[in-house]
Amino acid sequence: MPFSEEFLQELSERNPIEEVVGEYVALTKRSGQNLFGLCPFHSEKTPSFSVSPSKQIYHCFGCGKGGGVINFIMDIERLSFPEAVEFLARRANMQIPEDSYDPNRGRRERLLKLNREAARFFYEQLSTPAGAAAIEYMQKRRISKRIATNFGLGYAPDEWECLSNEMKSRGYSERDLTDAGLAKHGKRGGIYDAFRGRLMFPVIDMRGNVVAFSGRVLGEGEPKYMNSTDTPVFSKSHNLFGLNLAKKSKSGYIILVEGNIDVVSLHQAGFDSAVASLGTSLTSEQANLLSRVTKQVVICYDADSAGVKAAQRAIPLLEKVGLGVRVVTVPEGKDPDEFIKVRGAEAFRALIEDSSSGVEYQLESAARGLDLESDAGKVAYLQNAAEVLSKMPDPVSREVYAMRVASQCSVRVEAVRDAIKQVSSRRVRREKRAFERENTRPERNMQPVGSKIRFENPASARAEMGLINLLYQSPEFFRHEGIPAPEDFSSPELGHIYSAMLELNRAGLETGAAELSSKLSGDEMSIFTSIIQEPVSLSNAERALDDYIGKINGSSRPREDEDLRSVAEQLKKTKGYGG
Ligand code: CTP
Ligand code: MN
Repeated sequence: MPFSEEFLQELSERNPIEEVVGEYVALTKRSGQNLFGLCPFHSEKTPSFSVSPSKQIYHCFGCGKGGGVINFIMDIERLSFPEAVEFLARRANMQIPEDSYDPNRGRRERLLKLNREAARFFYEQLSTPAGAAAIEYMQKRRISKRIATNFGLGYAPDEWECLSNEMKSRGYSERDLTDAGLAKHGKRGGIYDAFRGRLMFPVIDMRGNVVAFSGRVLGEGEPKYMNSTDTPVFSKSHNLFGLNLAKKSKSGYIILVEGNIDVVSLHQAGFDSAVASLGTSLTSEQANLLSRVTKQVVICYDADSAGVKAAQRAIPLLEKVGLGVRVVTVPEGKDPDEFIKVRGAEAFRALIEDSSSGVEYQLESAARGLDLESDAGKVAYLQNAAEVLSKMPDPVSREVYAMRVASQCSVRVEAVRDAIKQVSSRRVRREKRAFERENTRPERNMQPVGSKIRFENPASARAEMGLINLLYQSPEFFRHEGIPAPEDFSSPELGHIYSAMLELNRAGLETGAAELSSKLSGDEMSIFTSIIQEPVSLSNAERALDDYIGKINGSSRPREDEDLRSVAEQLKKTKGYGG
């Protein structure tokens, strides 16, 4: 066991969950003792994410995620358990006990070292005869030597085992290479290089680790870009190309573009805060990353319809994490790289200065293709605009834009307000109906929200959850006559939660989120918190307990089996067999 429960308990005490979560989510006090906010793990408009200071847990009623403070950091920072512990220890200025270790740390470190050596190797290939093709391609794209070096660009030779052989000779295994996404398994055994004949862009995280690569063919060819697969050190949705450099920019904003070459080209032209999202549409995790380094994002996607859609999706994600958003539309359907090459850096700077706010951009898109001179056009625009404005959280700016829309359509502002109200209440009704649908079907409601786990026997599972909650609230019942064995539980997950609680209780420890977090999976923690956030009436506790026990035993295995097991239990106790 890497960390003792005592240590985890102290760690959690010194990192109060309401404080830690409060650094990521705006929490407001509401119903009872709980704090509420918008869930950082799924997209929502009304807060269903709750934090309980008394139980030191978080729980989202929408997506079902939950856990203690360590689980929260694991989820939001995408860290492993030991990394999250380290993170919180640092936050609270605590020493980590000497003998604790991270079983995965060695693996991660090895893969990162391999990536770093691979980046170095690709870079060195540029000065070989084979690398001449890449140099020539960069010249053609007008990428300067200086900027190429800043980004650590390199070349993967057009051979099957160039990198693999070199790295093997340095002591890396085939497994290391495939785990890092640098090589693939061949059909007839062995491995081959994943990147061949490509200009290589290392993806470097905020801590300066080379976590992945993106490779572009020199000239024409399919696929044009190839990215590393997700690996133990890389997740595409949690990284942005160029962020390692852009985070140091003093410009006050981040420029979000689509392409790697756009990033390089912008940095070269003096826009040192450009990043790209590696060929995916922006994710909420990437928005989170951005919010750590800036307050303002300028979206500069391609002007084609895919780019417009991507921008519309990105705006709310960025606003949700508190970022100001502006949108640049590059004229003539060019991407930023092409635009700068034709029109120059100053013209691009002017575009940024003229960029419209997120709302303005969305209103412009809402008007696209409509004739605002015609009545039908006005009505359609009013509808679309109301849709956009109804999502604006700030009433003052909403009013300002409502007035603008009113004057665009030459109607009174009250008409716009009414349209917004209608759209809002329609949405609230829709959400309410969906919520009720979800929650009025008892057996459906029984199933854990947002996880793949399903209870085979809902009636017994209900009793199992009741028992878990009761034991959490009143641990003295652990000593109650006849409480079931974990094997009696119909659900393996609930049984596992229960057995972890038993184990802690026997060791004289508490059975809270902090103590359980090292023993349970993320899904199990979510189920645990969803169970214990339910209030328990302790006035009828004994009755409820007997009832639960009866239901659990009633639906467990046949009697004969049970006798055998109790004999085994007896043997264990008297002779010290087993466990
Ligand atoms: N991309 C990808 N996989 C592809 C194509 C594109 O991951 N098969 C990603 C790359 O990060 C690329 C970005 O999407 O930089 C934008 O792609 P695209 O607009 O097609 O290319 P450009 O950036 O304009 O590429 P270039 O200027 O190099 O031609
Ligand atoms: Mn391009």
